[in-house]
Amino acid sequence: MREIVVSGIRSTGNLHLGNYYGALRNFVKMQHEHDCYFFIADLHSLTTHPDPKMLHTNVKSILAEYLAAGLDPEACALFVQSDVPEVAELYLLLNMHVYIGELERTVSFKEKVRKQPENVNAGLLTYPTLMAADILLHRATKVPVGKDQEQHLEMTRRFARRFNTIYGTEFFPEPASYNFGAESIKIPGLDGSGKMGKSEGNCIYLLDDEKTLRKKVMRAVTDEGPKTPNAPKSEPVENLFTIMRIVSEPDTTAYFEEKYNTCEIRYGDMKKQLADDILKVTLPIRERILEIQNNDEYMRKVVAQGAEKARESAAKTLKEVKKIMGFRSF
Ligand code: TRP
Repeated sequence: MREIVVSGIRSTGNLHLGNYYGALRNFVKMQHEHDCYFFIADLHSLTTHPDPKMLHTNVKSILAEYLAAGLDPEACALFVQSDVPEVAELYLLLNMHVYIGELERTVSFKEKVRKQPENVNAGLLTYPTLMAADILLHRATKVPVGKDQEQHLEMTRRFARRFNTIYGTEFFPEPASYNFGAESIKIPGLDGSGKMGKSEGNCIYLLDDEKTLRKKVMRAVTDEGPKTPNAPKSEPVENLFTIMRIVSEPDTTAYFEEKYNTCEIRYGDMKKQLADDILKVTLPIRERILEIQNNDEYMRKVVAQGAEKARESAAKTLKEVKKIMGFRSF
């Protein structure tokens, strides 16, 4: 079934290999199967770090990376949240039926209060309303999100249900969360344990140049090497094999498995091969990122086209919502 998919991209720094094999490749696939609305959540970013000097730069860098990694502005609606002013209007209308108490109980809000006690602004409190507006604006049926967004999505469903009940309508579908599950490949970090993540500081970025990337891979944590044939692998070594299974040819991985099992493996050789194969994935993307970043004309075209698609769907929804709520023109 064709779904209406909405997802917001929050700026959390540059894309790394974990992002690429996780959500991103699924976005790229979904854009051809569903009606997708993907946007850069620049309004949401104001709740934590409003910075006029960086706002546009950040948006540009996210846009270039997502385009380079495969989002196709012809296949989906790819836009900047603030280019669709309808979202602000729906946010205002939805807020009339959102209770302070439920907002205050949101886990992400309580966390932010702890983290930035000097800036507990109303935008932070109503973050879930804005996110609901993003989603309901296109009457989305599916929202791909990570675990940390589950509560926000639960609230979106509640707001949709509440609106429908109050106004005796079926207007808003309740958007289901979409977990990529098995399709989402987890990339481990290079530091021996855990997954690749920005806060872990163990990332290979799509933007890393060849020298930086090679250095990171060559420094990856390993162990003293197998002492007996067919020894079980330690976690750091297993992690290298995991990445290799994803980026390298099966023959290559099989070759190093064999070397490991016969205790002949030289981790240096394996890392060199691994770096070569990661570079085959990331270097072409890196080149595209740099190319797109320098092509303002192209980016301008992309976001204009995206905003146009999004606004068309948004205006339709908003018109209906206002009618349902009782607004009439003279
Ligand atoms: N809150 C999401 C995050 O932090 C980003 C986001 C904003 C979003 N609006 C959305 C995600 C709408 C999905 C749908 O990652």
